Formats: sequence, C-alpha cells, structure tokens
Amino acid sequence: MKQRKLIVGNWKMNPESKDEARKIASDVKRAMKNIRKTNVVICPPFVYLSPLSGVSKGNLFLGAQNANAERLGALTGEVSFSELYQFNVRFVILGHSERRKMGETDEIINKKIKSVVSSGLNAIVCVGESVRDRNGDYFGFIRSQIHSALKDVNRKFLDRIIIAYEPLWAIGAKEAMQPRDLLETSIFIRKVLKDSYGSLSESIQILYGGAVDKINCAQLIEEGNVSGFLVGRESLRPKDFIEIIKIADQI
Ligand code: PGA
Repeated sequence: MKQRKLIVGNWKMNPESKDEARKIASDVKRAMKNIRKTNVVICPPFVYLSPLSGVSKGNLFLGAQNANAERLGALTGEVSFSELYQFNVRFVILGHSERRKMGETDEIINKKIKSVVSSGLNAIVCVGESVRDRNGDYFGFIRSQIHSALKDVNRKFLDRIIIAYEPLWAIGAKEAMQPRDLLETSIFIRKVLKDSYGSLSESIQILYGGAVDKINCAQLIEEGNVSGFLVGRESLRPKDFIEIIKIADQI
C-alpha cells in the first residue's frame, strides 16, 4: 500500500511576531486547496497555536514541538498533550536533537511518546546519529534509539507513530544527505521496525529531515524511499515550503 505523503514544518522558535506566523500559515492553507495526496503539519511555537488553531482543516494539521507527559499538575512552565488537543493539535514532534541537547533522555522521550499516542495524537519521533563513522556503528545507534523510543508502546497505537530520520550533521547544514545513503538508512529503519512489529510496522511512516529544500526534495523522496519530510528553515519561507509540498504531491 502506498502511503500518503507527509510534510511537517518545524518552525522552532520562529517567527518573531504573531502576524508573521499568521501570514505563513494562511499562505500554506491557501496552497493546500490543490494538494491531493499529501498531508501537511505546521508546528509553530506554543504561543501561536491558539491564534492558528483555525488553520487546521482537511489535509492541513497543526502540530506542537514538545509537551509534558503528565496530564496536569504542579509543573511550572509546562504544557500537557490534553491541553494542546483543545487547540486542534494532532501531531507532536518528540526526540528532536535540539531537545535532546537540552537534556531530554531516551526515558523522557519514551514516556512522552506513550502519553501522546494514548491522548489520541500522533508522535513524530526523531532519531539520527551525530556522526557517520566508517565502521557503520551509527546503524546500531539508530536501532537503539528506535527501541528505547518505542519501548512498551501499545501495539494498537503504532499507526500514530511516525519516524523522522534526521542525521544531526544534516540539520541546519548546507546540504542534505545523499539520496543513496538515505535509501540504505531508510531500508535499515524499516527492517528494525519489521523485526519488532512484523506487518503492523507497515503503518509507520518514515520521514527524512535535514536541509530539505525545493531542489533536493524530489530526489530524496524518489530515491531515498521515504514518504515525506521534517522541514526546518524552509518551512518558514512559505513560497519554498509550498513548492516542496507541491513536488511531493506529484510524486
Ligand atoms: P533544517 O532543520 O531543515 O533547517 O535543516 C531540520 C530540523 O531540525 O528538523
């Protein structure tokens, strides 16, 4: 079965004003009228979720970049998944390397993933090595990141899991990964998932992230065997982001 494409825009801590956020979101929304086979998720900072909650419609969704695993409580400065759900948030990025750098461990990420999927949201789980060593040790690293992220996740929620493969050296870089290297890695990730979950793993989408742009996106999808992207910088430039969506939709 051919999966629908999925393009996720990770705005990180941008843009600076609510008006700019509204502008990007409404440009993307307008372009979605002609998009047939692709789902798109925009993930703005928390404070813009409320003003943007109206943009999610049809194949355009709203996502968050983080949340706390608890439902509610004395947790100053935190936001829960059930709180996000009320603002039409249906996806959450988890395990992004920038958050891992801030101290999120595999255990915390696993707890959040379990909480996200049982709250009825979809988890975009980021994995990826920081260096590509010659011995291929990064394969073992990616496998163990996937295993710890998905530890004890109820199998009935597997269709709410998306794996975003993001090699750290490609995030924010000038160039994306080579499509043939991506193919090798995406085949490996597919095998890791299949070894754990058999045919149930087929519902899990695999995305690529790291310096995706309108020039490299077609080749990455076609030759890299992924069903979409997690896009950083280019998701803040509506024209380019829309171009990526259109290209993916035509493949
Ligand atoms: P980039 O970021 O597209 O700007 O490289 C990707 C990401 O961090 O998800």
